Amino acid sequence: MKIGIPKEIHDGERRVAATPDTARKLQKFGFQVVIESGAGAAASFPDEAYRDAGCEITSDVATVWQQDIVAKVRPPEYHPGTGQDETEMLREGATLISFLWPGQNAALLERLVARKANAIAMDAVPRISRAQKLDALSSMANIAGYRAVVEAATLFPRFFTGQITAAGKVPPAKVLIIGAGVAGLAAIGAARGMGAIVRAFDTRPAVREQVQSMGAEFLEVTLTEDGAGEGGYAKEMSPAFIKAEMELFLAQAKDVDIIITTALIPGRPAPKLLQAYHVEAMRPGSVIVDLAAEQGGNCELTQPGRVAEHNGVKIIGYTDLASRLSSTASQLYGTNIVHLLDDLGKAEKFHFDLADEVTSGALVVHDGANRWPTPKPKMTSPTEGKPAAAAATATPKKSGHGHGSKAPGSPWPLVAAGLALVGIGVGAPPSFLTHLTVFVLAIFVGWQVIWNVAPALHTPLMSVTNAISGIILIGGILQISGPPGSATTILGAAAILLATINIAGGFLVTQRMLQMFRK
Ligand code: NAI
Repeated sequence: MKIGIPKEIHDGERRVAATPDTARKLQKFGFQVVIESGAGAAASFPDEAYRDAGCEITSDVATVWQQDIVAKVRPPEYHPGTGQDETEMLREGATLISFLWPGQNAALLERLVARKANAIAMDAVPRISRAQKLDALSSMANIAGYRAVVEAATLFPRFFTGQITAAGKVPPAKVLIIGAGVAGLAAIGAARGMGAIVRAFDTRPAVREQVQSMGAEFLEVTLTEDGAGEGGYAKEMSPAFIKAEMELFLAQAKDVDIIITTALIPGRPAPKLLQAYHVEAMRPGSVIVDLAAEQGGNCELTQPGRVAEHNGVKIIGYTDLASRLSSTASQLYGTNIVHLLDDLGKAEKFHFDLADEVTSGALVVHDGANRWPTPKPKMTSPTEGKPAAAAATATPKKSGHGHGSKAPGSPWPLVAAGLALVGIGVGAPPSFLTHLTVFVLAIFVGWQVIWNVAPALHTPLMSVTNAISGIILIGGILQISGPPGSATTILGAAAILLATINIAGGFLVTQRMLQMFRK
């Protein structure tokens, strides 16, 4: 099976859908990779590097588009070089993988339907834990958040970090981040890294701990309204909340030097949170970076794609922030595609499993049939804090129960188990009954010590050692009641001590490891 990687033709686009490194991984999956000459040049990957990685290089655009799979970054558009729309060059029955924004691109989907194609929209990959490795929206938003801070620093006429020098004292810059999703959290990390004082606001209270763990202050309004919507995304807030929020921003605008806005509700125009009066309240020299510029902007004075200026305040409305870090963005996007193709069965077993919620969510055109809007998974996002963790903990418990009792609602397995226990109780020797009790208790304790750990912390090692420690603990408790000073009592006490140290120590070590990721 062959994958074609065309050169991006969208004005100013510097990313490419495969780097030499990801192309090597694709070849390990059994794909042959055909790269359009110069496709990686703007991301600092020359043709030579692809050739060394074993790719085929061609300067014929049509050849690239004739492969079984075509992977690119931007949605297909009119190709000035060939005078055709890129979709028209796609082979019938082939698969296109790219950002497609199906909600806003109905005509594009129809063109793909006409080609009897399959199309995976990278922007429609559900944001669930299992799909994180192929979540291109998150990998690009992470880069955009970082780059937003870099762009702000370029235009900001002062240091980010405070300094005391022989020539005088320089106060640290104050940064406000509106919207603490993927991009917002990355922006907090970058601004803190550069020494600024950072504050953040989000409508979802669940992100408070994430904001605080990144070293920023979480701002709140007096009005209580949870902005968490379905699938871990935000929901639209009431006008009263938006009003309270905008009052908070006015007070902040008078104090902070930089505002980075990333507020977004999927499928809606960006909420307008900064009006002209907010901008006018800021000191001259201040900078606003509006990441939502492409969706209409969070600031009413934003001009998409350029830097606007109002009362000495610069408003950056770049829509290509990820592309400005082209090398990293291409590497991460390329890796997202590698993971996607891994999930789709690699070259040998390449197929679309519609029972898989990730494939089903992202496959917007299947065998020439338009599937948009694709089914949404009913799950909360890993980016949520407490509620997500609580939901995640609840889910395995439920399924665990389901496993034990097989078909819920059917009493027969329980009746059979009860009869078997009565049979054993009547017929088995007393020593067997003692062992059975220990066995059942050990399973119960082992089960509890695993399922009471948040699933995010589950590792096979943790589960196995905790389960074994649980069994040892029960064994020890049962043996310690022997004659004082006897070998069984001493061994029982030692077993209890060691198993307890193992379980408690495991929790402590995990806690420490988590702390290492927090500033
Ligand atoms: P996300 O969905 O992870 O985060 C958006 C956050 O905004 C959520 O935490 C949500 O709760 C919050 N929010 C929604 N309404 C709000 C309100 N009224 N007040 C405060 N917070 C509110 O989205 P992600 O991935 O972080 O992307 C953020 C933005 O960055 C999007 O608009 C995205 O399109 C844009 N982006 C821009 C790029 C560029 O080059 N300009 C590149 C990549 C992403």
